[in-house]
Amino acid sequence: MVVNRGLPVYRSTTVNASSVKENHENIKLASKTWDDIPGPSSLPFIGQLIHYLPGGSFYGPQSEVMEKLMKQYGPIVKIVTFGAPTVVTLFDADAIELVLRNENWMPDRPGFDSLEYYRKYYNKTKEQSTELTGLLTDHGENWRLFRSKVNSAMLQPKTIKLYTSTIDKVALDMVERIKSIRDDSDVMTRKFDMEMNLWALESIGVVALGTRLNCFDPNLAENSPERQLIRCVHDFFITSNELDFKPNLWKYFATRKFKKAMKLYEKQESLTNYFVQRAIKEMKSNSIHSSEKKGVLEKLMDIDEKIAVIMACDMLFAGVDTTANTMIATLYLLAVNNEKQNILRDEIRSNQERRPYLKACIKEGMRMMPITSGNMRRTTKEYNLLGYQIPKGSFIAFMHQILCLRENQFPRPKEFIPERWTAEKSDPLYYGNAHSFAYIPFGFGARSCIGRRIAELEVETLLARIIENFHVEWTGPPPQVKSNALNYITGPFHFKFKDV
Ligand code: HEM
Repeated sequence: MVVNRGLPVYRSTTVNASSVKENHENIKLASKTWDDIPGPSSLPFIGQLIHYLPGGSFYGPQSEVMEKLMKQYGPIVKIVTFGAPTVVTLFDADAIELVLRNENWMPDRPGFDSLEYYRKYYNKTKEQSTELTGLLTDHGENWRLFRSKVNSAMLQPKTIKLYTSTIDKVALDMVERIKSIRDDSDVMTRKFDMEMNLWALESIGVVALGTRLNCFDPNLAENSPERQLIRCVHDFFITSNELDFKPNLWKYFATRKFKKAMKLYEKQESLTNYFVQRAIKEMKSNSIHSSEKKGVLEKLMDIDEKIAVIMACDMLFAGVDTTANTMIATLYLLAVNNEKQNILRDEIRSNQERRPYLKACIKEGMRMMPITSGNMRRTTKEYNLLGYQIPKGSFIAFMHQILCLRENQFPRPKEFIPERWTAEKSDPLYYGNAHSFAYIPFGFGARSCIGRRIAELEVETLLARIIENFHVEWTGPPPQVKSNALNYITGPFHFKFKDV
């Protein structure tokens, strides 16, 4: 959800006062200026655009372009694009750590400017424009206020545990669906990304709305609200990529893309409102649960109905394509690494309560095929990054995907080795040898992913059920990955699901 944008749960997220102080000392030592930051040559008005167009030296898929920029210019590169803020791109984990730790009081993650515009200003009164709009689009005090209200409902393990059996039912339904839609040779005939989106929406719906949406209903009409919502969520990331991450003029005048985006956001808002209001009505007609039995939506409703509606909308927004792509990536990597798949199946069949190999497979999947290439912050103070003075208000991008695929961070980086996440410290593959800010798939600190526990529960549950029931094979070339605001695995999909 970020550049095409990322402390895992198990690492400390505290901001250390000495690191903040050190930063001030550091700034004085920066000898080079903003203008000295390396990057492709830039022209007035259009910036470096020419380099990124067909025929330009940096034309191509985003991940390749980033790799090329790093190889040519080093660990810090300035990207100047027409109609978009200049971005300082970091390929150095120490520098990333410095910014993330120092920006952990009220972190500002730029990214969804067009959605922010829609929620704050599009057909809104002056008073409405100062109201809370949610975690994806609020910054500063409004973000802090919203996050402090929703944190415990969204992140308490006790609350998330309440969903274990329903999320498992969704997973079992998905297994049945796979059985019913594969052909006689066990080939998945439907578009697997759409199938995973249906599963992800059904799963997050359970949490956000406290009810089943019935996305697997074979009679679900093409124009049903469920299918419309899935399309909206998907189109949202593509539109946002066009308007918020590529050169664009919508901030100067209402372009055609901008008008289309506003209509899309309007539709998404009204669809999610339809689902949330339906859920709230149902909830109000049911008996009231004791505090321990209250799910996320009920807990949020106790805080404030408006906050509950916004958070539920954002869960449906942020919780579909993210988990769906993580699931596809992990399944693909297991399908092409048979031996690892068998180890995982043995662990699942052993019925032990702890499943370290399952978690390791997912972590390794997110390392190799993450849902975003990195993350971003807009700085609230000055920095000395790698000897360059970086002014307050700069856009800094952290290139985690590239760092995670470097030999000096993760040995044999292109190999799927879940064992690195369970290895002893003495093992050269031990994950702890990598810099702790190279791999942070759920982001860092106060602003890290609020849905991570839910996402982990969903992905672990479905992955376990699939591997328990099927031997998964992949029969073609690797799938294509399209980097938009998210890294979409677009297929073609060559999965076979054979009964075991
Ligand atoms: C495997 C799946 C997922 C991954 C890898 C992921 C990753 C991320 C990342 C990297 C961020 C930015 C964190 C930062 O800036 O430090 C983020 C933010 C966020 N995520 Fe997730 N996410 C996933 C699933 C979900 C789910 C299921 C939900 C919904 C419940 C969700 C809701 C959010 C929200 C609302 C934010 C904004 C938080 C804020 O700004 O305070 N994510 N996620």
